[in-house]
Amino acid sequence: MLCVALVLTSLIWSAAPTAGSARDGRRQQLTVLPPRGWNSYDSFSWIIDEAAFLDNARIMANRLLPHGYQYAVIDFLWYRRIAAGSGVGAYGFDSMDQWGRPYPDPRRFPSGRGGGGFRPIADKVHAMGLKFGIHLMNGISTQAVNANTPILDARTGKAYVENGRQWRTRDIGLTHRTCAWMPKGFMSVNTYLGAGRAFLRSLYRQYADWGVDFVKLDCIFGTDYSPKEIVTLHSILKELERPVVLSISPGTAVTPALAENITQHVDMYRVTGDDWDSWKDVRPHFDVARSFAAANKIGAPGLRGRSWPDLDMLPFGWLTDAGANQGPHRTTSLTFDEQTTQMVLWSMAKSPLMYEGDLRHLDDRTFNLITHPTLLKINHHTRNNMEFGYIHSERASKPDEQSGRSKSGYPMDVTNNGGTVLGLGTCSDRSASGWYSISKDHICRSYGIQNGNASFCISKAKLLPTS
Ligand SMILES: *[C@@H]1O[C@H](CO)[C@@H](O)[C@H](O)[C@H]1NC(C)=O
Ligand SMILES: *[C@@H]1O[C@H](CO)[C@@H](O)[C@H](O)[C@H]1NC(C)=O
Repeated sequence: MLCVALVLTSLIWSAAPTAGSARDGRRQQLTVLPPRGWNSYDSFSWIIDEAAFLDNARIMANRLLPHGYQYAVIDFLWYRRIAAGSGVGAYGFDSMDQWGRPYPDPRRFPSGRGGGGFRPIADKVHAMGLKFGIHLMNGISTQAVNANTPILDARTGKAYVENGRQWRTRDIGLTHRTCAWMPKGFMSVNTYLGAGRAFLRSLYRQYADWGVDFVKLDCIFGTDYSPKEIVTLHSILKELERPVVLSISPGTAVTPALAENITQHVDMYRVTGDDWDSWKDVRPHFDVARSFAAANKIGAPGLRGRSWPDLDMLPFGWLTDAGANQGPHRTTSLTFDEQTTQMVLWSMAKSPLMYEGDLRHLDDRTFNLITHPTLLKINHHTRNNMEFGYIHSERASKPDEQSGRSKSGYPMDVTNNGGTVLGLGTCSDRSASGWYSISKDHICRSYGIQNGNASFCISKAKLLPTS
């Protein structure tokens, strides 16, 4: 089965935008193009350790970095201990410092034992030429609230004091605003309080000190939509000398209207629920990609350049299962045609590309797909990409009859038409010759058949009758 997406790029290559040259990290334009990287979630669930992460980062630096994949990201619960009774829904297994801040689990990330947190890993990742990212749960952990620790004032290095009183985590945790998909584990912080903002500042200062370049912040978008917290984080991140790219999640029930007020505060935002390796997960992305394109949200102004609707991970290759207490142990369930279709859609929708299979088992076919030069070029250097859902044919019904043209302007099931209808190429590709655009919403190809032209057109909308 080759499902052909009725989406066509406008086949206009935009000039590669230049990144901001400002030396000041605060103003660096890092997301003029949709980011690419590797994330540990699909292959390791939450149990990734330092050795496995660095192995993947090394392979990524050698093989994927030349193709623009630069963010190496450790996904969720890196502070949680692996033990009997521990897991995604467990409570009380998290490493945390005296200020209620998460700390990498010292058994899984031994280089952090000296107090450097992720710094030693970030240094290694940077030495490979990559950027380093981590996943975060929005707000504060229930464990930190229950411990009722003091809050670090990052500006003084001491406990946060305001109005003559020392504030604690129990003052700032919003117990009625827990994370929708992990209600026992995490809750929002009261950003109306100076102490709440001080806590968040103490977290992000530390991440920047560790050398973090990218945060995937969960429980703040979609069904956990919290614009006040997003705006607060935007200003905290802008204060940091180190530029940190902000990616927000989850993407459940996201529409362009929901994204309206926050795109300028973030770099990328999920627009679907988790995308695992089944066609039922991939399928809804077509409609979502269409609506974000139609709403002109792809590449709208963002925190560090532009903001990108994120179609979520590429679950190809060697994987694990969602939320499992287990590392990679199986191959993807998507057929290769389905993987190709997914990769083509992600490229045309200019989604960030986050490969998530275990790179230690990266086969050539998967490698060639995720580094396909034309797709990667489409992903970075096309514009006005949108769905052209209508197919029209126009031809002389008899060769000598100029006026008797027949038109059909209805969505067609292209899969009934022998499979492949549209291909994608660069303008210099021979298969691209013969295409011309009548308007930006209407693209045709002319076949000079004998006396008459047989035209094949696709358009964004159903054409109105002309006679
Ligand atoms: C966006 O902001 C406007 C103006 O403040 C507000 O009316 C609207 O409800 C907001 N939309 C969302 C989805 O929060
Ligand atoms: C065929 O198409 C070309 C290019 O659009 C046009 O110039 C020409 O007039 C067409 N010929 C007929 C017979 O319609």
